[in-house]
Amino acid sequence: MVSKALLRLVSAVNRRRMKLLLGIALLAYVASVWGNFVNMSFLLNRSIQENGELKIESKIEEIVEPLREKIRDLEKSFTQKYPPVKFLSEKDRKRILITGGAGFVGSHLTDKLMMDGHEVTVVDNFFTGRKRNVEHWIGHENFELINHDVVEPLYIEVDQIYHLASPASPPNYMYNPIKTLKTNTIGTLNMLGLAKRVGARLLLASTSEVYGDPEVHPQSEEYWGHVNPIGPRACYDEGKRVAETMCYAYMKQEGVEVRVARIFNTFGPRMHMNDGRVVSNFILQALQGEPLTVYGSGSQTRAFQYVSDLVNGLVALMNSNVSSPVNLGNPEEHTILEFAQLIKNLVGPAGRRFEQSHPLFP
Ligand SMILES: NC(=O)c1ccc[n+]([C@@H]2O[C@H](COP(=O)([O-])OP(=O)(O)OC[C@H]3O[C@@H](n4cnc5c(N)ncnc54)[C@H](O)[C@@H]3O)[C@@H](O)[C@H]2O)c1
Repeated sequence: MVSKALLRLVSAVNRRRMKLLLGIALLAYVASVWGNFVNMSFLLNRSIQENGELKIESKIEEIVEPLREKIRDLEKSFTQKYPPVKFLSEKDRKRILITGGAGFVGSHLTDKLMMDGHEVTVVDNFFTGRKRNVEHWIGHENFELINHDVVEPLYIEVDQIYHLASPASPPNYMYNPIKTLKTNTIGTLNMLGLAKRVGARLLLASTSEVYGDPEVHPQSEEYWGHVNPIGPRACYDEGKRVAETMCYAYMKQEGVEVRVARIFNTFGPRMHMNDGRVVSNFILQALQGEPLTVYGSGSQTRAFQYVSDLVNGLVALMNSNVSSPVNLGNPEEHTILEFAQLIKNLVGPAGRRFEQSHPLFP
């Protein structure tokens, strides 16, 4: 009896235990199924999200890529290729102002000084000069172009000033004689004032015209000239003469270092083709196949220097210790007829066509 009761008791306990174990196993199963379900839905969500992001990214890429292409094209067209520039140490690199630097001579001087590695500021009012003469430097870290009239004062920091601003050919300087006078007088005073303030050396681009209608040939720097003070060219000739006077007044009174270059006829690329001077006239007429106009017998002599020789002379003078005026020109004279012949030969077929019909070259 007792043993039966005990057996019932044990099996009842086991049943309860079994039920408990079954309950635990069921719970564990449900939990694991739920866990898997949660995991799967998380992964599903993530892949949907990633898919969406990928799609958006590829859409953005589709829109952005052509824009990037356009920017690359624009950058290519803006990437200026500059002529080679030497590297100069801080000690040797000068800050140089060139007034009239967008003109014929000034632009070649700009090229030389830039290529030598200096910092160049060109100041020009574009009366006869053109931006395109210096456009190949625009954007270069050593170059600056300022649209400014030297008749107004200028305040910048520089070590050297090449003062070239002035119309140079008769049609240009006679176009507005008062302005020519102002440029050469007030303009020069302003540049000398700047040189004094900042302790810069100034080189004046003077002219052989300070000798006027000379009575001696060739003219040495000691010759004082023969100038009509009220003639049609006086605005230029006398303007340059007084500009020279101002330079030496500033040198004596204020201790400004000055250099004066008396420039003779110069030719080369970027010269003005319509300024009525003999070389440009001949070249233009020869290119157009027209007869070359020679005044008089053509046996009168002239000398022309090439612009790069002038520029080398200007730089050498600036860096020399010569403070008295210096003539810069080609000492070799040729007759006007010789020049006409030379240009005609160089121009070629157009020149040859006219050769047969021109009375000067039978
Ligand atoms: N080319 C020659 O054969 C020759 C001969 C003798 C002297 N020069 C002298 O050399 C210098 C340069 O002559 P170029 O042949 O190059 O002449 P250019 O006319 O080509 O250059 C003169 C430059 O000065 C600028 N300019 C004129 N007035 C100005 C002002 N008020 N403010 C600012 N800029 C001004 C012009 O726009 C121009 O860019 C001139 O001073 C000229 O008198 C030239």
